[in-house]
Amino acid sequence: RTARFTLDPAFTVGDVNPRLFGSFVEHLGRCVYTGIFEPDHPTADEAGLRQDVLDLVKELGVTAIRYPGGNFVSGYKWEDSVGPVEDRPRRLDLAWRSTETNRFGLSEYIAFLKKIGPQAEPMMAVNLGTRGVAEALELQEYANHPAGTALSDLRIEHGDKDPFGIRLWCLGNEMDGPWQTGHKTAEEYGRLAAETARAMRQIDPGLELVACGSSGQSMDTFAEWEATVLKETYDLVDYISLHAYYEPVDGDVDSFLASAVDMESFIENVVATCDHIGARLKSKKKINLSFDEWNVWYLLPHQKETEENPLDWPEAPRLLEDSYSVTDAVVFGSLLIALLRHADRVTVACLAQLVNVIAPIMTEPGGPAWRQTTFFPFAQASKYGRGEVLDVRVDSPTYETKKYGEADLLHATAVRAEDGSVTVFAVNRSRTETLPLEVALNGLGLSSVVEHSALADADPDARNTLDDPERVAPHAVEGTALTDGTLKAALEPLSWNVIRLR
Ligand code: AHR
Repeated sequence: RTARFTLDPAFTVGDVNPRLFGSFVEHLGRCVYTGIFEPDHPTADEAGLRQDVLDLVKELGVTAIRYPGGNFVSGYKWEDSVGPVEDRPRRLDLAWRSTETNRFGLSEYIAFLKKIGPQAEPMMAVNLGTRGVAEALELQEYANHPAGTALSDLRIEHGDKDPFGIRLWCLGNEMDGPWQTGHKTAEEYGRLAAETARAMRQIDPGLELVACGSSGQSMDTFAEWEATVLKETYDLVDYISLHAYYEPVDGDVDSFLASAVDMESFIENVVATCDHIGARLKSKKKINLSFDEWNVWYLLPHQKETEENPLDWPEAPRLLEDSYSVTDAVVFGSLLIALLRHADRVTVACLAQLVNVIAPIMTEPGGPAWRQTTFFPFAQASKYGRGEVLDVRVDSPTYETKKYGEADLLHATAVRAEDGSVTVFAVNRSRTETLPLEVALNGLGLSSVVEHSALADADPDARNTLDDPERVAPHAVEGTALTDGTLKAALEPLSWNVIRLR
């Protein structure tokens, strides 16, 4: 059976905020050290940044980059990470049982963003696990105040004359999680987040602040947590955060392929909770969503491994270095589609993470850097997913999943660029069948197919590795046609598709 939908410029979701294509650099494993930063690497610049990695980061098209954690931020002492490198202390990082050398810190992070280019924006987290209002204010003064105070002058003394201008701030990380150092109840966190936000706004009312939502929709406290936190912070913050990671459980690939069903319901449930609190407060303001950690993550094997072999405080160990298959990339693409389909309320999103740690870019110390399978859907979505999201309601054949019941085989969205061109992003979840697709194009003035690119492979487990870094890449699909206002395409089994029309 054919899957169908209609595109019409009269029916839209909303504009895509460039921040939807954000990412995340945490002091975790080799994301920073031997990931983006490796002074001894043959491609390193004067700042120790790997140019081979920088080139891939630019090609990936990331925008906001969240830093320095993650769970790491709940033990973060920002002042350890600034000033002369030789004076910076080594610290225990409780979150990842590693040793943090502080060789890379705040100033290096800002320099890294500058090297990526103007599209890269800082998204800084403050420590609300083991610290509070005072330290958040000190960090803000050091980072953003122009000059003439103790901490802004210290930044200048450290070599950063210009303030960093950090506009987007996360008020802690996953404070609902019992694994978080300094974990809090919703009431405790809500009060602390409110007072931190109020104080930070006393320095600069123009900041954009993200309150911690739940670490996942399956948390016992989900929704009640958001409601309690928002009752305290509604007028003081702009965003509530969402985090979600997906993996196949007990080999259930069919449910894994439908992971975006969960992601979309998570988004819709958080929107409903935000709007419920807004209604109760009789507020005209809308809280937006910062989906500031999302990805495919093989978390269960990692948890088993670290329970059996706890780390003994190594420096930059190989941690969470998941290798992604074609199947993973198709699920990943579907998660991107879920974010785009909710672009009216999800206005920040961060792919967790950027390099080596559950990442689209991998590196070898002293060796090469390469693109994982997940690199391609992200780069294509960031390049062609800018503009206005059109409302897509699919009429699709379905399949049965253990976790989500009946799910559509087709998952799709479409984005109309400023120049009127339209890009359809579509995933075929069938593992065995090609899915015929027909899209009725109403009033869009489109006449031809520019390109149909697909990521699919005869071997769904194919991946890019150190030994074979270019095994998987998108390929061109022939035969996709636009005639008499209808787009006709064939979506290969288990595929991520980008169809560009003009
Ligand atoms: O991204 C890896 C970890 O996942 C982050 O540190 C934490 O916030 C989440 O649990």
